Amino acid sequence: MTGRFITLEGGEGTGKSTQARRLAAALENTGLSVLSTREPGGSPGAEEIRSLLVNGAPGRWDPMPETLLLYAARADHVGRTIGPALLAGQWVVCDRFSDSSFAYQGAGRGLTRETIRRIDAVVLDDFKPDFTLVLDLDVDTGIARAMSRGGAESRFEQFDRDFHERLRQGFIDIAKRNPDRCVLIDASGSEDEVAAAIWAQVARRYGLS
Ligand code: TMP
Repeated sequence: MTGRFITLEGGEGTGKSTQARRLAAALENTGLSVLSTREPGGSPGAEEIRSLLVNGAPGRWDPMPETLLLYAARADHVGRTIGPALLAGQWVVCDRFSDSSFAYQGAGRGLTRETIRRIDAVVLDDFKPDFTLVLDLDVDTGIARAMSRGGAESRFEQFDRDFHERLRQGFIDIAKRNPDRCVLIDASGSEDEVAAAIWAQVARRYGLS
């Protein structure tokens, strides 16, 4: 049997990466074979493209070339990492995927949903996650958390507050439009509380305990 493809999504500072690690560990504890990966990145070529996207000034890329770089990375990641793992029966936990492009490059940077949908259709041919956990947090708390991490890979954090507000609404909108695939998780609680909320959803969906 092929594995399952689970993604975590959300704006800056929502705790997604920590929660992705915890979810992967919880799945492994049930005896499943799990591959943890991330976007942009997750394959050698896609990691090289990542550094073009997450470093430098916010205005370094216009929205369209930024989107095409993301989808170039995604094509490589799906072809070389995610696809083979699923075919081998592994469960894949991915920190961000296409929903981030609809939120960041769409709601955030202003490309229409239809534009991204067309690119997505050409590149991914209807390949989607099986289940997506969308972490929701108020913008000021998220930005403060992200800033406190400091340092590198901060290109998107530097966009203005309105950008981050549009992102949050973009993710909420994605969850509403895809109720069979997505669930919105309140990320304002402690790390343990959020991990428990995520595990409750995943365990129920897949009959795990
Ligand atoms: P990360 O902070 O979750 O590691 O993600 C790196 C940045 O890349 C983050 O600021 C969001 C951005 N991003 C997009 O803008 N569009 C996308 O499709 C993806 C996957 C990430």
